[in-house]
Amino acid sequence: MKTTPVILAAGQGTRMRSDLPKVLHLLAGLPLVQYSLRVVEAAGLEKPVVIIGHGAEQVQKAVGGQAICALQDQQLGTAHAVRTAEPLLRGQTDYVLVISADMPLFRPETLARLVEAGQANPGPVTLLTVVQEDSHGFGRIVRGADGRVQAIVEEAQATPQQLAIREVNVGAYCFRADWLWDALARIPLSPKGEYYLTDTVGLAVGEGLNVEALIMADAEEAIGINTRVHLAEAEAILRRRILTEHMLNGVTIVDPLSTYIGVDVKIGQDTIIQPNTHLRGKTTIGEGCQIGPNTIIEDCRIGDLCTILSSVLEQSIVEDEVHMGPFAHLRPGAHLGQGVHMGNFGEVKSSYLAAGVKMGHFSYIGDATIGEETNIGAGTITCNFDGKRKHKTEIGANVFLGSDTMLVAPLKIGEGARTGAGSVVIRDVEPYTVVVGVPARFLKKWEPRD
Ligand code: UD1
Ligand code: CA
Repeated sequence: MKTTPVILAAGQGTRMRSDLPKVLHLLAGLPLVQYSLRVVEAAGLEKPVVIIGHGAEQVQKAVGGQAICALQDQQLGTAHAVRTAEPLLRGQTDYVLVISADMPLFRPETLARLVEAGQANPGPVTLLTVVQEDSHGFGRIVRGADGRVQAIVEEAQATPQQLAIREVNVGAYCFRADWLWDALARIPLSPKGEYYLTDTVGLAVGEGLNVEALIMADAEEAIGINTRVHLAEAEAILRRRILTEHMLNGVTIVDPLSTYIGVDVKIGQDTIIQPNTHLRGKTTIGEGCQIGPNTIIEDCRIGDLCTILSSVLEQSIVEDEVHMGPFAHLRPGAHLGQGVHMGNFGEVKSSYLAAGVKMGHFSYIGDATIGEETNIGAGTITCNFDGKRKHKTEIGANVFLGSDTMLVAPLKIGEGARTGAGSVVIRDVEPYTVVVGVPARFLKKWEPRD
């Protein structure tokens, strides 16, 4: 049985008061529409159709190849939106699952259950409902004396008795496709000038066909984002879900209230996350690390047994047993080898520091490679930019750079070389030589002991 999801994402989202289309607002670092795309994939359904309209170009870009987009050029209501998918889907699928892109908290199991119930239903309409104290803004579920669903009444059309109903329409449906397309064509214009998808329920019941409603146990899953207040509520729920999963997997999170972890972050067992830590993007962290407090890591790969205190890391690689911070900054393309020590107020960009390199204090290393066990004295700087172009610095293994060395790139410093404190090095330095001065001049040759 083929079930194809249709994700509604054409609405304007007026109540967000934003220039950005609603479904592109970020939740735990990802645009809302991504959650719908991911949940239908995780539920094992066909490639979805996304209905776009408001901000179509931007939304299509965010959707990429994950779905087929269909343009609803005028937003005439949810039924009209689903009809936009008809030319793509008529005759192509047995069932149609409809969800809205402003509902990011559905679990795949919940949608799988809806689809299963839809396929088991001899009638054409199956939907999710939820019972909640505050039903404001939702369509009310009207049930008959026999307990069966009779209709969904939108708030604007509801009688006072209907307004008091606490069971509401979540906005997720599984339709039998062959019935759906013809039914959509028969939906009348509402007094508000829209075609309501919810009217399919009344149509089916009127034809004596069965409508099935599954009551969801977890109302949190049904949260829809209409305002930025809802966005923050959803963020809090999702954050708790993500943190709980990490904790159950063996990660210590000292203060969940001040810890922010993106949906795609992976963390190894026995790692401890200290307060006020933000882990974002496609970051992976190994086992037995100490991260934070006060640390931001985005799109990085961190090995095992690392300590990272009060630091900011972006698009970088950190191998095992690295010690960083406080106040270290890795910019894109930094790669710290095993056991590197990077102390306070250092910055590394597009550079490789091999195993055992020590960079204790106040240094900038950009566009450089540094060999094993080299010591970078306090205040050392790779002067990599001549005002027009960036240049590379190559430093060998076991080099000792004196405090405040300026390395004017392009430059090569040979293995075992040394620079005096305050040197300004403008020419390549041979292995095992010592240079000093401003600009540094040759001083002597030195003999390594072993
Ligand atoms: C809808 C339901 C309501 C339900 C609620 C749950 C209808 C008529 N009402 O109301 O019963 O309780 O969801 O949140 O369906 N959209 C389009 N094109 C349009 C109109 C809407 O793509 O022409 C999209 C929106 O972008 C949104 C979704 O459909 O993602 C739902 O539309 P919205 O206007 O938010 O419906 P609600 O008023 O919330
Ligand atoms: Ca809505």
